[in-house]
Amino acid sequence: MSLARVETKASPAAAAAGPAVHVVTFGCQMNKYDSLLVEGRFVGDGYRLVASMEEADVVLFNTCAVREHAEERVYSWLGELKRRKREHPDLVVGVLGCMAQRAEEEIFERAGHVDLVVGTRRFHQLPELVDELRARRAAGGARPGRPERLLATEMDGVVAVDRAREVYTGGLHGYLAVMRGCDLNCTYCIVPRTRGRVASRPIAELVAEARWMVEQGVRVITLLGQTLNSYGEDFDPPMSGAARGAGRDGRPALADLLRALEPLAGLERIRMITLHPSYVTRELARAIADCAKVERFLPLPLQSGSDHVLRRMKRGYNLELYRRRIAILREEVPDIELSSDWIVGFPGETDADFEQSERALAEFGFAQSFVFRYSPRPGTAAADLSDDVPEAIKAERNTRLLAAAEQAGRRRMERQIGSTKDVLAEEPSERRAGSLRGRTREGLAIGFPGPAEQVGSWFRVRVEHASPYALSGTLV
Ligand code: SAH
Ligand code: SF4
Ligand code: F3S
Repeated sequence: MSLARVETKASPAAAAAGPAVHVVTFGCQMNKYDSLLVEGRFVGDGYRLVASMEEADVVLFNTCAVREHAEERVYSWLGELKRRKREHPDLVVGVLGCMAQRAEEEIFERAGHVDLVVGTRRFHQLPELVDELRARRAAGGARPGRPERLLATEMDGVVAVDRAREVYTGGLHGYLAVMRGCDLNCTYCIVPRTRGRVASRPIAELVAEARWMVEQGVRVITLLGQTLNSYGEDFDPPMSGAARGAGRDGRPALADLLRALEPLAGLERIRMITLHPSYVTRELARAIADCAKVERFLPLPLQSGSDHVLRRMKRGYNLELYRRRIAILREEVPDIELSSDWIVGFPGETDADFEQSERALAEFGFAQSFVFRYSPRPGTAAADLSDDVPEAIKAERNTRLLAAAEQAGRRRMERQIGSTKDVLAEEPSERRAGSLRGRTREGLAIGFPGPAEQVGSWFRVRVEHASPYALSGTLV
């Protein structure tokens, strides 16, 4: 799972001249999706999006809590606004998302200039929360140094956003959260606490949202969930006589959702982030095989190659079970590619445990790996264990596993040299002028020559070169 920071793009010049809002997004793709919903709500209410904090009347940080470092970054960004807030007491500063949900009032204590703390199941109530804050300020008069504050972190209910009013700002590629929350309790992980229990959204609602996105110009949709392939497990089983899905006791499952999205006219590619090994089924593998639009690429984090560590992480599988799930996938979808997340330096991880991660990485041939150093999170089960792997060893294991990941990635990529791919140009290359980037149907990044105006066109590309991270080719 990739974690990056993104910021609001400015609205078109012709947009309304209302108050200006800027959103800075940290964390995973779910946060990027949520930020788009937030931006959409503001635009629908007459706000305009601006490209920098300096121009904004409302600055919002959509935050991540997955590692300590992620939270520290938010505080340092917040620090940047202190002076501006002193000079412009009308400025609204808000913290949204996972760190807001985890730390709540602690944020007001550490950053006195924050006005709003909004959790992961309340952000859709923006901009009403901003209006309320403004109204309270107006009623109370300007009280420098004692701003009114709002905390909205209730967890009840599901975020359901009617997007019809939204001005879509996402471009050719769109995210679709098919479920919220996580019901597993990996011992290191803060997400179940920040995101709450699983709530899957009905297939009809998801197809309607996908159709709406396609009408706004989206052609590639990434389906999002913390354990995407447990989709539907929280539904009631269908009554006898009703249509049955591919899930447990006839519940709708991810396989059914893929089959429901496949026929959507105008939608050209379907991606998925992130799957959990315990919920890989043959029905899912067959649905991937049957649906031409579904990318043959699955993020299926193993986290560790050691059964001892997996048990202490409470991941719910061991190496052998993982191996069997991959065998099912490769049987049904021979061209499937996989990626994994890894944690190094989990409490009690020995050299021998770590070496098993290196070996598993090579054995399963991951096309891509994300490696993280273990970071204890307050309130998680692992936080009670001693964080006993020294930082220097974590750093060394991090470097070694990244080297193994590069080797495995390169090997996987090199298999594609000489083949011909149909590729949708999704964006201009950032590195090379006159180059475009897209993904093969196996989900592998590929660069090829073409002008920026051709983003959105399909190309036939022969793969000529491979690096551990991307392919490149020539047009045929
Ligand atoms: N739901 C996804 C992952 C969500 S968090 C899944 O189960 O795969 C993204 C990644 O961050 C995880 O896969 C894990 O590798 C890493 N991570 C989570 N908590 C962590 C922690 N406390 N320290 C270090 N890495 C962590
Ligand atoms: Fe965290 Fe585990 Fe849930 Fe993933 S499956 S979000 S790692 S608790
Ligand atoms: Fe971070 Fe929350 Fe995503 S903790 S990884 S932003 S679900």
